[in-house]
Amino acid sequence: MPSVQVDEIAPDLFRLSVYVPEFDMQFNHFLVRDDEPLLFHTGLKGMFTLLREAVGKIIDPTTLRHIAWSHFESDECGALNDWLQLAPSAQPVCTWVGKLVNVDDFSVRPALGLTPDDVLVTGRHRYRFHPSPHIPHGWDAGVLFEETGRTLFCSDLFHHFGNGEALTTTDLLGPTRKAMRQLQQGPLAGYMPYTRQTEGVLHSLAGLKPDTLAVMHGSSYRGPCDRLLRDLAGVIKEEFDPA
Ligand SMILES: [Fe+2]
Ligand SMILES: [Fe+2]
Repeated sequence: MPSVQVDEIAPDLFRLSVYVPEFDMQFNHFLVRDDEPLLFHTGLKGMFTLLREAVGKIIDPTTLRHIAWSHFESDECGALNDWLQLAPSAQPVCTWVGKLVNVDDFSVRPALGLTPDDVLVTGRHRYRFHPSPHIPHGWDAGVLFEETGRTLFCSDLFHHFGNGEALTTTDLLGPTRKAMRQLQQGPLAGYMPYTRQTEGVLHSLAGLKPDTLAVMHGSSYRGPCDRLLRDLAGVIKEEFDPA
């Protein structure tokens, strides 16, 4: 039975990490303790009981108010309805596209569909929404930037394998490039498209100048995130659009 590793990677920002050895991959979920608690990534349905117990050590999980994610996939929002049934005031939060094309049919309660520069306030924390279609993947993808603590909830960006530390200051580009090559050689090839918009989306996220990247698969990062995001655009081009 896997366990949940919990780390407070910034004040009131908890990383709940489940390592799955079969994939050599972490699945990370981020809980923000605030007046209106927010969970970013619901986790897989199969991880719900495990995560509910872990969340319960930090807050009363029935008080969750916002359940957000990037794009419609099982690890992002598979357990959404389990959380909504547990927390009566919780509202799904996703992109407007996600709400329209998937979520309001899937979810037991309608979602808040975010459009560019919408801001969600949870108390001390403010989250600004940035659409990022197809980055990392999915028409409906978007990210949240927490403006007070300057944390970018960047979903699958900087995905890398292994069971690394919760928060690192070591450059993530090497492990990210390695993961891309590994995935491109197997049945999951093509998981990230390269389009004319890719560089622009990543550069606009770099322009936010985050201090922390909350990474879904692998270690979170603290350091010069703007440089990392700009360099990621180059790495994606090299790996997915070789000359
Ligand atoms: Fe994904
Ligand atoms: Fe993911």
